[in-house]
Amino acid sequence: MSKKRILVTSALPYVNNIPHLGTMVCIISADIYTRYLRLKKENVISVLGTDEHGTTTETIAMELGMTPKQAVDHFFKIHKEIYAWFNCSYDCLGRTSSKESKEITQDIFMKLYKNNYIEEKEVEQMYDEKADKFLSDRFIEGICPHCKYEEARGDQCDRCGKLLEPIELINPKSKLTGSKPVVKKTKHLFIKLDELQPLIERFVEERKSKWSDNALTTTKAWLREGLKERAITRDLSWGIPVPLKGYENKVFYVWFDAPIGYIAITKASREDWKKWWHNPEETKLVQFMGKDNIPFHTVLFPASLIGTGDKYTLLDTISVNEYLNYEDTKFSKSRGIGVFGDNAKETGIPADTWRYYITINRPETSDTKFTWKDLQEKINSDLVGNLGNLVNRTLTFIKRYSDGRVLRITKPLDYSKEVEEILRAYEDIELKKALKQIMSLSKKGNQYFQDQEPWRAIKEDKEKAANALAVLANMIKDLAILIHPVMPRVAEQITLQLNYKKKLSLELLKERVENHEITEPSPLFDKLEDKKLLGLQEKYSGKQEKESKALEKIDLRIAKITSVEKHPEADKLYIEKIDFGGETRTIVSGLVGHYEPEELIGKHVLIVYNLKPAKLRGVESHGMLLAVQQGKKVGILHSPDSKPGDKVIIQGIQAKTANEITIDEFFSTKIIAKKTALKADGCELKAPGKIFVDKGLEGQVK
Ligand code: 2FM
Ligand code: ZN
Repeated sequence: MSKKRILVTSALPYVNNIPHLGTMVCIISADIYTRYLRLKKENVISVLGTDEHGTTTETIAMELGMTPKQAVDHFFKIHKEIYAWFNCSYDCLGRTSSKESKEITQDIFMKLYKNNYIEEKEVEQMYDEKADKFLSDRFIEGICPHCKYEEARGDQCDRCGKLLEPIELINPKSKLTGSKPVVKKTKHLFIKLDELQPLIERFVEERKSKWSDNALTTTKAWLREGLKERAITRDLSWGIPVPLKGYENKVFYVWFDAPIGYIAITKASREDWKKWWHNPEETKLVQFMGKDNIPFHTVLFPASLIGTGDKYTLLDTISVNEYLNYEDTKFSKSRGIGVFGDNAKETGIPADTWRYYITINRPETSDTKFTWKDLQEKINSDLVGNLGNLVNRTLTFIKRYSDGRVLRITKPLDYSKEVEEILRAYEDIELKKALKQIMSLSKKGNQYFQDQEPWRAIKEDKEKAANALAVLANMIKDLAILIHPVMPRVAEQITLQLNYKKKLSLELLKERVENHEITEPSPLFDKLEDKKLLGLQEKYSGKQEKESKALEKIDLRIAKITSVEKHPEADKLYIEKIDFGGETRTIVSGLVGHYEPEELIGKHVLIVYNLKPAKLRGVESHGMLLAVQQGKKVGILHSPDSKPGDKVIIQGIQAKTANEITIDEFFSTKIIAKKTALKADGCELKAPGKIFVDKGLEGQVK
């Protein structure tokens, strides 16, 4: 029996980065399905948002010198703009750091607790004595025992991919202070999935016929092995507080509150949220996600809801995508590899074209890869050569030879079977298949155009020509309806050129356009020329890899100069004491003759913070002050509105600054100061306050 309401969710991306094409696969798929349901006039809403808690957020905030809240605000704005640019038409958009999220997560937790599904256990965990904090696995770094990679994390080695326990790391270090962590006892809360197993089994049994193979296989594997108690608390300060005594310094595990975010986001945007989320009889829940998210949606989330004893709408249909990779590698922002949401926009290739590409290449049953060459082929042959050509030549012929009018169909062309198959594919969320069939229907239209030879018929058999053009005009209208979920703007352009003003819906597939005047035709798509393609390939395929790798290692910070003395052994050198907002250091710099001591004292200067200490004429200098030399003049870099200790970030570069660097490593990257900006390898350097070069100098920073 079909339900009255359909609730569609798309996995909430972590908000610690800029979404790339691979991230967009799931979001765009959910949007296509939702748009299809709207065409069908279903009562549907879609939920989208960002997953804002977890260690990755704390890490990125630390690296950017921001608070976690500042970091998620910054990235949420970027995510929102990118979703909008890709024409995603969500009904509810929100964030897991909202007050609704906290409220519902704590409510669900308290009910689980009262129903005895929560247990407290003592565990041994790494502890940073300097920071006085327990460390979650990702905050510990050390040498991988398997491959000897030096920057392996406490949970996993990024080089060999092995899962690790923090205790296994050789020479472990806290990412917070760099000190060696000790092992200490602490308490955590666990959800008793083992006791909830029979309820989860029943839940899976009842709906497994509607699940994809990969969803079922993963879930079954978890159940077969037997569900185990799972920790739902973490030692972080950023997250949803645990409302129990003794847990003041802990928060909920990000995967506990993330899926609850769907409910909270709906609540924050709609008063009638309970009709959707507390209404399993009437609401069908369809969830889209990447393959690594499966067990959290088929086991952990339903278990959390079922365990409350409240009536919740639970997952009915799950649509899982695999990964879309970039060329022969993975997307990597820090290495400048791949197409990210903001790049997609700057290529000048329209959003609908990206939606087309992502869908026709949708990683449905195995990973697929994006290649520029393939994108060019799809644009030039599918879009320009097939669909664009059909629409343009039909409308141009109607304009030129039929007075701009679609006349009557006297001999129809039957393509109802094709339409039926397309609709079935949409219904089954086989989006790639639906799109392929739409394109083959368009091909059939082009073939029909060739067979009917309207250019000849116009002269020899006017009625035949009029019929053929009317059949084609109707097919174009149908194609606009069918392709709308995937390419909403293109559908709109087609209907504009056709002068078809009705709001698109599946019902209109049955209606005919006859005795109807069209407007001006114009090409729907531009070809992607070889020259432009080459430029794009070069720009986004990691040419800058080497330089940005070096940039990742630089840690620049603001310090206040508190005292300046002349070096007793060297005429040109000053010895300065600098303060990073608590930490003081000594540096030596060659500014004698360019600055008087009193001009320097109090200035907020830029310092290479992680430079290996070196002795300069017997005095140890720990860090280096940045300055520009132009001719004989020297001007220091400073930022009066930034605070001592603030970080200077290099935009677009993911900082990896755990280690010291040598002076040669620092100089392997060129930082250039211009009147308008300070740039390293094309990426702008930013501090919380504006950065100035003293005396208005320009040139390379030394
Ligand atoms: O994999 C991810 O990007 C997760 N942030 C997905 C969370 S989905 C939901 F539970 F919020
Ligand atoms: Zn390793």
